[in-house]
Amino acid sequence: MNATPLAVHDDGPEGVYTRGSGEAREWWRVSLSERANMFRIEHGRGGDGDTIGEVDIDTVVDLDNLEAKLLKWRREGFVSEAGREDEARAAEAGSRFSADLRHAAAAARAAREGGGAGDVAGSEVCNESDNEARLPGATVRIGNVDMPVAQAGSPASQALVPRINDAYLFTARTDDVALDIVENRRVMLIGHTGSGKTSFIEQVAARTGHGVLRANMNGQTTIGDFVGFWTVKGGETVWVDGVLPVSMREGYWLIIDELDFAEPSILAVLTAVLEPNGKLLLKERGNEIVTPHPAFRLFATANAAGAMSAYRHLYQGANLLNEAFLDRWRVYLFDYLSKDEEAEVLRRTLPQLTPALAHTLAAIAADCRAAFAREDLASAFSTRRLIDWAELMLRTGDAERAAGPSIYAKVSAEDASLIRSIIRHHAIFDADPGAS
Ligand SMILES: Nc1ncnc2c1ncn2[C@@H]1O[C@H](COP(=O)(O)OP(=O)(O)O)[C@@H](O)[C@H]1O
Ligand SMILES: [Mg+2]
Repeated sequence: MNATPLAVHDDGPEGVYTRGSGEAREWWRVSLSERANMFRIEHGRGGDGDTIGEVDIDTVVDLDNLEAKLLKWRREGFVSEAGREDEARAAEAGSRFSADLRHAAAAARAAREGGGAGDVAGSEVCNESDNEARLPGATVRIGNVDMPVAQAGSPASQALVPRINDAYLFTARTDDVALDIVENRRVMLIGHTGSGKTSFIEQVAARTGHGVLRANMNGQTTIGDFVGFWTVKGGETVWVDGVLPVSMREGYWLIIDELDFAEPSILAVLTAVLEPNGKLLLKERGNEIVTPHPAFRLFATANAAGAMSAYRHLYQGANLLNEAFLDRWRVYLFDYLSKDEEAEVLRRTLPQLTPALAHTLAAIAADCRAAFAREDLASAFSTRRLIDWAELMLRTGDAERAAGPSIYAKVSAEDASLIRSIIRHHAIFDADPGAS
């Protein structure tokens, strides 16, 4: 982790560092020395602003030495004058950001108190269309692809159809995946946590009326949960199907989440069913053969497989999936949404957010992700986290307070402090009084 040298102004270490005021004012001044890569440091008392009083120490140091001094001064309470100007600017611009936010929060409150958000366009979740009659042969458009709609199945399968999230944004990246689903290909989505892999499949299923089962491999999923097991019920020994045979028999869409954490025995079982129309052999059940229902689809998500393997150190415990295994899938890299797309999702989810606020929030998320990729942050910044923060911000009218339970309390103190400085930075530089 790189500690952010907050005591140093962005433009470099040169400048005046002060503590106290009036008589008690004490300062250090750093300037470039005539000697290459060396710095001159001077010390004194008194003076005002950039002006300094009488010099009592005057010496030349190298960068390492200077950095040690900067840290020491910071601990002793010295602050750079440039830093003080930034603070003042932050306070002013921050209040513009806060004013924007206060307006949005007031609008949100009015909508809540006025009997819900019924009159707000594009408001959150659409329930009406969930159980719309689905005509056989009908299609629904996902992005630029027409996808066939499921024939209405049993009440049990209906209960497994995810709810439509109207705020979900299908982008051009998903057209190929949609076509693969139509063609019954095995699809693996790889990408950082919270980039929308699982929800994409769920939202396609929601719109096409398919029941979805999920099995998360980063946790307790055993081969028994996955394939099935024998158990004793009322004195009789009975077989209980696992999620894989259930999905294959009933024609559900099975999402295997975080496949790169799966046990080898699960990967071995999967390999057989990865062929289109691949059958499952239940050895434990006297070699029963499970033939897939035509509506069955198999999906996997992974954080650090394939093209994402460079990030394996960020996902502790992730296994390398070998190429022969990967070759049985179409593998798509899901990056986070672009800033504009994410701002759009924020506005669709929370219509009270102004475009300026939504863009600032999306820019903050983008910066946090860049810091995560550089390993300056240990915690990822998902779209889910961003939406949750924005939601709470609209309730509290206070971005900092809202960040407590939605962000800071979930991460280390170091991460919280870096995220806080990223948020402050954007409150200063993004505020655009023209946009609202
Ligand atoms: N394209 C999108 N449109 C709207 N919301 C999205 C989109 N992508 C991600 N999200 C939001 O982010 C959340 C987390 O996404 P998820 O699919 O769980 O990520 P992953 O499976 O990649 O970890 C979703 O519940 C959804 O609220
Ligand atoms: Mg997921």
